[in-house]
Amino acid sequence: MIEFQNVSYTYSGADVPALVDISLRLAPGEIVVLVGANGSGKSTLARLCNGLLVPSEGTVTVNGMSTIDPERVFDVRSRVGLVLQNPDNQIVGTVVEEDVAFGPENLGVATADLRIRVDDALAVVSLTGMERREPHLLSEGQKQRLAIAGALAMGPDYIVFDESTAMLDPPGRADVLAVMQRLRSAGHGILHITHHLDDAAHADRIVALDAGSIAFDGQVEEFFEQNERLSDLGLELPPLAAAAAYLRNAGLVVPAAVADARGLVEALWPS
Ligand SMILES: Nc1ncnc2c1ncn2[C@@H]1O[C@H](COP(=O)(O)OP(=O)(O)O)[C@@H](O)[C@H]1O
Ligand SMILES: [Mg+2]
Repeated sequence: MIEFQNVSYTYSGADVPALVDISLRLAPGEIVVLVGANGSGKSTLARLCNGLLVPSEGTVTVNGMSTIDPERVFDVRSRVGLVLQNPDNQIVGTVVEEDVAFGPENLGVATADLRIRVDDALAVVSLTGMERREPHLLSEGQKQRLAIAGALAMGPDYIVFDESTAMLDPPGRADVLAVMQRLRSAGHGILHITHHLDDAAHADRIVALDAGSIAFDGQVEEFFEQNERLSDLGLELPPLAAAAAYLRNAGLVVPAAVADARGLVEALWPS
């Protein structure tokens, strides 16, 4: 479990806190989507998850270990992987397998074990067969999956994705979302920070930040039903969900979080 208890964070020199009184839990095997306007504190929250930042007030614990405990810094970092927006800033190896091996090698993982970790991580992100490929020759989507493999090879329990799908085209995004589903099935806890509310359709829960505070923490359907509030939070319903909302307001029985166009049609005309 990653647990935030009454966490506030103020950057040094800043007048106002970036996060205020955040209490939040991320459990193994769940996907939580985190949304909010630019500057609402999402990336700050991401960096607090693995101890890159530590709370000004309150506590963050990872599997019961406080991120301010100097003896646990290393443990905490290896429990929580972080995948960022731009894969180019995360890739260090000259070929794919070297890149994935970089992290665990630095952890001191033995050579035989290393091969297994690299192969497993590449399999999860569907890059098997690309071991000797140069990373700069990969598509953006493949590069992002390589960055995920790099995080995965460290053996984390949780992975925080900070706008990791923002730069990808629709197929690239779909691939990364599919990888998140696989990671959830394998028992990883996923925190997915995104601007695309339609990414929330696959989440177990959604958390919305507003100027550093939690404005919502609950079911995606319930969040999507608060149509008017979303624009106050700097968010916009995806077209399909907006259509579903209009249909519901017109008295039709349609779920708030429809996954795709087919789902909407089937809700209206069950086959
Ligand atoms: N390194 C920093 N130093 C000072 N203020 C920062 C720093 N990084 C972010 N902030 C401020 O903290 C707030 C939250 O930023 P951030 O967590 O990056 O939000 P988001 O990821 O939601 O866009 C913003 O007001 C931002 O300007
Ligand atoms: Mg950010």
